[in-house]
Amino acid sequence: MDSIKTILDSVSGEAREGEILAILGPSGSGKSSLIDALANRIARKSLDGLITLNGEKIDNEEKLKAISAYVMQEDLLYPMLTVQENLMFSAELRLPQSVSRSKKRERVREVIELLGLGLVASTIIGDEGKRGVSGGERRRVSIGVDIVHDPTILFWDEPTSGLDSTSAFMVVKVLQDIARRGSIVIMSIHQPSSRILGLLDHVLFLCKGTTVFDGSPASLPLFFSEFGRSIPEDQNRAEFVLDLIHELQSVWILTRRSFVNTLRTPQLFMTQLGAVVLTRFIMGTLFWRLDGSPKGVVERLAFFTVAVSTMFYICA
Ligand SMILES: Nc1ncnc2c1ncn2[C@@H]1O[C@H](COP(=O)(O)OP(=O)(O)OP(=O)(O)O)[C@@H](O)[C@H]1O
Ligand SMILES: [Mg+2]
Repeated sequence: MDSIKTILDSVSGEAREGEILAILGPSGSGKSSLIDALANRIARKSLDGLITLNGEKIDNEEKLKAISAYVMQEDLLYPMLTVQENLMFSAELRLPQSVSRSKKRERVREVIELLGLGLVASTIIGDEGKRGVSGGERRRVSIGVDIVHDPTILFWDEPTSGLDSTSAFMVVKVLQDIARRGSIVIMSIHQPSSRILGLLDHVLFLCKGTTVFDGSPASLPLFFSEFGRSIPEDQNRAEFVLDLIHELQSVWILTRRSFVNTLRTPQLFMTQLGAVVLTRFIMGTLFWRLDGSPKGVVERLAFFTVAVSTMFYICA
């Protein structure tokens, strides 16, 4: 029988119009799974929960497809076509036939301007054999082909992967511009720089499929200082949270390792337990009923010294 693995557990959240919702977390925390679940790219039978849009349940797959876009990495671009041609073909495919060619051309011009691709509009995309646009520009063209029909919701898993920090910033800046024009952008990002974090309106940190933090990046310092771990002024907030998640996971792993190891060596465990019980019994009889006199106080100190040293000796 197939065993069932829980990948996302009780994750809930809200993405608002005009904002970017970024899903963060270490590798394997469930970022891609959450985006895929929201974008209806996971079989319904393996999901439990409710997705609503303006309070209405989304149960019509075709409707979600019409109002949303899931940006693919780069595979939909034709390398020998120019940026403008790639976008124009996408406009012809995605906009209804009733929209005239000149309107489509107008929309492509708008998208080129929005993505800051004016200077490379006539450059081919290129591939390994023939140089074309840069990696960052290529990534922005990928957004273009998916937003040409002006979707309300834009999903993108790791839009900045493989880009240098400036190109990554420009891609997220474009996503912010798209959001500000009235769309909802839901994306995942591995390790955002401080500059990129400043562009995000809402962040959801995942750890092993559960929510660690859900709110605005500005409220991260207050949340973690209440949690007893203040974020140093000079540290990147996202990096701090990811490091903390890693640290907590490591403590959990070490505890589990020690527990499993103890379970597999019952003789050693029983010997240690016996030694603890015996020494506590001897000490209990030696220091029985100490009073408040100076002699009693000195004996109490002696008790603590012996207790601590025997504890280290037994546990070693
Ligand atoms: N169909 C599946 N069957 C079994 N396990 C799966 C399946 N899909 C995802 N997982 C597991 O669920 C966990 C979350 O995967 P997911 O791809 O969502 O992580 P992620 O946060 O996107 O990681 P990364 O940053 O590396 O992309 C991983 O441990 C992965 O191995
Ligand atoms: Mg992923």
